[in-house]
Amino acid sequence: MTDPGLALYQQSIEDKTAFWGECAKAIDWYQTWEKVLDDSHAPFYRWFSKGQLNTCYNAVDRHVQAGKGAQFAIRYFSPVTDTEYGVTYAELQAQVSRLAGYMASVGVTKGDRVVIYMPMVPETVYAMLACARIGAIHSVVFGGFAANELATRINDAKPKLVMSASCGVEPSGVVPYKPLLDKALEQSNHKVERCLILGRSQYVAQLQDGRDYDWQQAIKDAVPAECVPVAATDPLYILYTSGTTGQPKGVVRDNGGHAVALAWSMKHIYNINPGDTFWAASDVGWVVGHSYIVYAPLLVGATTVLYEGKPVGTPDPGIFWRTIEKYGVKSFFTAPTAIRAIKREDPNGHYVDGVNLSCLETLFLAGERCDPDTLHWAGAKLGKPVIDHWWQTETGWAVAANLMGVQAIPVKPGSPARAVPGYQVEVVDEFGAQVPPGQSGNVVIKLPLPPGTLTTLWQNDKRYQESYLTMYPGYYLTGDAGYMDEDGYLYIMSRIDDIINVAGHRLSTGRFEEVLCQHPAVAEAAVIGVDDKLKGQVPLGLVVLKNGIDISEKQLHDELVAKVRQEIGPVAAFKLVSAVQKLPKTRSGKILRGTMRKIADNQSYTPPATIEDPLTLDLVRDALTRMGYADALLQQHI
Ligand code: COA
Ligand code: AMP
Repeated sequence: MTDPGLALYQQSIEDKTAFWGECAKAIDWYQTWEKVLDDSHAPFYRWFSKGQLNTCYNAVDRHVQAGKGAQFAIRYFSPVTDTEYGVTYAELQAQVSRLAGYMASVGVTKGDRVVIYMPMVPETVYAMLACARIGAIHSVVFGGFAANELATRINDAKPKLVMSASCGVEPSGVVPYKPLLDKALEQSNHKVERCLILGRSQYVAQLQDGRDYDWQQAIKDAVPAECVPVAATDPLYILYTSGTTGQPKGVVRDNGGHAVALAWSMKHIYNINPGDTFWAASDVGWVVGHSYIVYAPLLVGATTVLYEGKPVGTPDPGIFWRTIEKYGVKSFFTAPTAIRAIKREDPNGHYVDGVNLSCLETLFLAGERCDPDTLHWAGAKLGKPVIDHWWQTETGWAVAANLMGVQAIPVKPGSPARAVPGYQVEVVDEFGAQVPPGQSGNVVIKLPLPPGTLTTLWQNDKRYQESYLTMYPGYYLTGDAGYMDEDGYLYIMSRIDDIINVAGHRLSTGRFEEVLCQHPAVAEAAVIGVDDKLKGQVPLGLVVLKNGIDISEKQLHDELVAKVRQEIGPVAAFKLVSAVQKLPKTRSGKILRGTMRKIADNQSYTPPATIEDPLTLDLVRDALTRMGYADALLQQHI
């Protein structure tokens, strides 16, 4: 039996140059590359070296030139502000070129960084594309992060310009962004000279003279800017993601490899062709938003849905299905947690009834492990294939997926299917030896990574190498653990580091611990991710108090919860914290987070022989039980 997906995969591994060189024809170049794959600086591989292109030109202008100016590029729908309109490719070109013209007029030029801290509005897409147009490097910061997190990113990226909005709108109410930006600018050592602020009617922001400029006023008379050729290897953007320390990692994405890989993925993974409508219900602050709300659909001349709302509560659990019907969405992408939220409110799928979903071919899920229950529920209620696929901020596009635009292979619940062309995925033991099918190990990818993946960490080649390339020379460490079956299907089961995944959002427990330790009563803290029926995981903190501290459990809890919200942001979803007398540690002082997590989630565990004081595990169990974990979780039902 022929397996076209496998044939494609083999081509991509056996002759990388031929494979990706052919894929690159989908992109318009000012100058063709000299080498498809440049390995002269390995392990820093470069794709399409000496090639020149412009990502914005490929995402916008060329479609207008091809006569598609009247087609919708964006369908913007914001149930939280009751706003809905379409932006055609011609309108997008006009908006983006004017904004780029303004940026150029205030001195933003090729290689300059621009931080974008904005909600889900079309202007955020304009801002990203305007940067790409003039060769500036954008760094979008998710709106659910607090001022301090924004300041950390500003300090690292050192932007010439910050683009923001007066506010975001969440179901819980208006979230003023501008005061958070002001606070971040106060905190950061890097001095930002100029901010462009989009005024939204829900909140009027104070503008600081000489630094802050009103968006609409500023761009009113701007002279549109043309696309600037950039090297394929020049950075398009920096996207910060959680590492194991409090300092986020600035993932750098290039222009050329990114455009080629994303265009390829649209057709082969998502089966999206020019003119089709694609919807990724995520946020532009995350990698899913970068790749599949903004760049990939536009690169192939499709229509993207930009949605400012939630799966439930804006106003009900039927909003996703009605939106798919309204815009004729062909492929829909969201996180399993969103489906779990819908299932919780509409277990029988009443909101699907009466909605015509004939336009929808496939539901794609990613961002966290997809539990088989969620997969089965969605499949049964929608009557469509539900496709789990696995990737990460670093890779920028799927590492393992079912190639729906090539030929679907059978779905195995719990697996994101096989490695995608370009990715040589292996599961290895601690010494780097490949483990047999079915046996768990560390999931690694043989170098070089395909186009579109990270090229380094922003101005930190050393951290890039130490984090990803050192443990297994010649391989990229994904940080995920899992196994592969006899048919080459991958199963991604957990992280090997201290990263947790909360509602599809990646967070560092190390960062939580740093914040908890800033509280004057706290001597030591450990944070673990515990199972949660809705969000997959939620953070749970255990703190040891300093000697002689007299504080009630409630006061401690409330202050620590408030502190995390203030320092990391509401997205941290931090609500569980309690004091213990002592944390379980090895004799060398390593906190036994893994064992604590197993106790919380009612999994069997063996205390390590090196444990300093076995009684500490009982203390932890008591604290966890008080918080509704350990045994209590068994009784929870969704
Ligand atoms: N700006 C400001 N605040 C934000 C925000 C943003 N862009 N995004 C989220 N927040 C806030 C929320 O308002 C909430 O604050 P609250 O504590 O005051 O209620 C908090 O951050 C947590 O938000 P969220 O993670 O969205 O949780 P929720 O409980 O409000 O909703 C879900 C739960 C499952 C509905 C929601 O997490 C969801 O839609 N998840 C989809 C996951 C996703 O898109 N992941 C991206 C990767 S594919
Ligand atoms: P992020 O960088 O925020 O996209 O998070 C990436 C991490 O989320 C991965 O390293 C995995 O741990 C997890 N993840 C994403 N998608 C999946 C999936 N389909 N199955 C299992 N884990 C996933």
